[in-house]
Amino acid sequence: MEQNDVQGLLLKVLDVLHKSGALSPAEDSKVVEFHQPQDLEEILSAFNLNESCSESRLLELVGETAKLSVRTGHAMFFNQLYGGVDKYGLVGALVSEALNTSAYTHEVAPVFSLSEREVMKASLKLVDFKDGDGIFSPGGSISNMYGIVVSRYKKFPNVKQTGLFSLPPLVLFTSQESHYSITKGAHWLGLGTDNVVKVKCDDRGRMIPSELESAIAKTLSEGKVPLMVNCTAGSTVLGLLGRHPSPLRKTSKPTSWN
Ligand SMILES: Cc1ncc(COP(=O)(O)O)c(C=O)c1O
Repeated sequence: MEQNDVQGLLLKVLDVLHKSGALSPAEDSKVVEFHQPQDLEEILSAFNLNESCSESRLLELVGETAKLSVRTGHAMFFNQLYGGVDKYGLVGALVSEALNTSAYTHEVAPVFSLSEREVMKASLKLVDFKDGDGIFSPGGSISNMYGIVVSRYKKFPNVKQTGLFSLPPLVLFTSQESHYSITKGAHWLGLGTDNVVKVKCDDRGRMIPSELESAIAKTLSEGKVPLMVNCTAGSTVLGLLGRHPSPLRKTSKPTSWN
């Protein structure tokens, strides 16, 4: 095979993935060929990272990887955050990787920077957010941290220059059911985990508005500053069906501390 025959290699990889059943797993196939970690380590010891290998060996290893991986596109695979493999999504990922571009300037990414804008517009429309802006982020933790940073900047714009040193203790309110990345964000951004108040929820995982109000009142009485209320719309444990009513709509004085 020619050194730069990208197309030839891609077609072979695609063929291996197809034959392994990874692209459209048969209903009667296993979701995973499970091995305990120590046993899997033994099996994978054949993947010697210290040696170069031929392309045909590389293709074998791709096949082994597909065979030993969980088939997340299988009809019997159920897990939070997964919705199967979308063929257009997969093609989109391949096109993005193949073009090896970025989205930072018009010069290097004329199409991608414009499409980023369009996708953002469509996303804002989905949540009915008028005159908004946004950013694509690589995951939940960093998105939640962006949220904390934005609310801190909105309330204390000087934080950009002075850092945390000029600020009073800031308190973040979140639902008892919220993801631990909120606490992690409070740690990483210097708010401190003691300043995260986990507000009680009802038996369906909804934040109880009166509990939120009392928590805010307590914070104010301690001379601390309520910074933000993080609302959880569904959780990986309880899920979400239908529209999630914001507890803020039920809180009588949501802006009394802002
Ligand atoms: C609501 C929520 N926030 C944050 C995260 C963490 O995301 P990441 O693994 O990208 O840090 C998750 C992951 O499940 C999540 O469901």
